[in-house]
Amino acid sequence: MFKTQCLFLCLSCVIISAYGNAVSFIDKCEWNDKACLVKSAQKAVPYFGNGLPEYGVKALDPINIDKVSLEESGLSLTFENFKVVGPKNCKIIGLERDEAPTYLRLEVECPIDVTGTYTAAGQLLFVPIEGHGPFRVKTNNIYIWAKVAVSTVDGSDGEKHWKIGKFEYTYEAKEKTLLEFKNLFNGDKSKAEPIEKILDENWSELMRLFAKPIISKIIHEIKDDIQSFVKVVPAKDLA
Ligand SMILES: *[C@@H]1O[C@H](CO)[C@@H](O)[C@H](O)[C@H]1NC(C)=O
Repeated sequence: MFKTQCLFLCLSCVIISAYGNAVSFIDKCEWNDKACLVKSAQKAVPYFGNGLPEYGVKALDPINIDKVSLEESGLSLTFENFKVVGPKNCKIIGLERDEAPTYLRLEVECPIDVTGTYTAAGQLLFVPIEGHGPFRVKTNNIYIWAKVAVSTVDGSDGEKHWKIGKFEYTYEAKEKTLLEFKNLFNGDKSKAEPIEKILDENWSELMRLFAKPIISKIIHEIKDDIQSFVKVVPAKDLA
């Protein structure tokens, strides 16, 4: 249920690997050869992590994000000026597409390390929370599943181009996740203690709750990158 930049990072690799070899770092695969797709996409991951300026693709590791906010279950939470490190090390564990193609299905496992500034007020799992300061969310393994619609459109260059459509996804923190919020209750340790206990014990539920806006933002960043890429590279060069 936890999804990250690797999602689209990998998707881009998927698209490229699924459709061709005109791009130098991509190995060609038959559309139904899953093992080949996985291997080829894995090979492409670091290229997208580092960015491909010639295709309008910004580096996706790290990703810098200005601000995301969450209002849910009595909790008001903002993350600002944060950095996401790790997508370059995503591991592709599954990849398939249909022949047409109309969709891609992808499974990845990624390490992520997110650091920045948080502001919190309200309640966290029924326990009062308040604070402003540095935060960190770090895990070695977030599992992401995604299904993405793919269509073909006419580009301004007169060529056919791929286009990413609607996507659905889930993510889940598979391993214990470090959730660190400094300066809770303005440094009042006795007030911070119940929250620190929850951050330590209930990380799995909490990841479902407040990783959502972070993940969503990251996914859109990556989607933008992929759109740029397939807008520049015609479908025939990917097939
Ligand atoms: C948090 O985790 C503890 C330990 O697993 C559990 O007993 C408790 O019910 C959880 N709290 C909430 C609000 O889910």
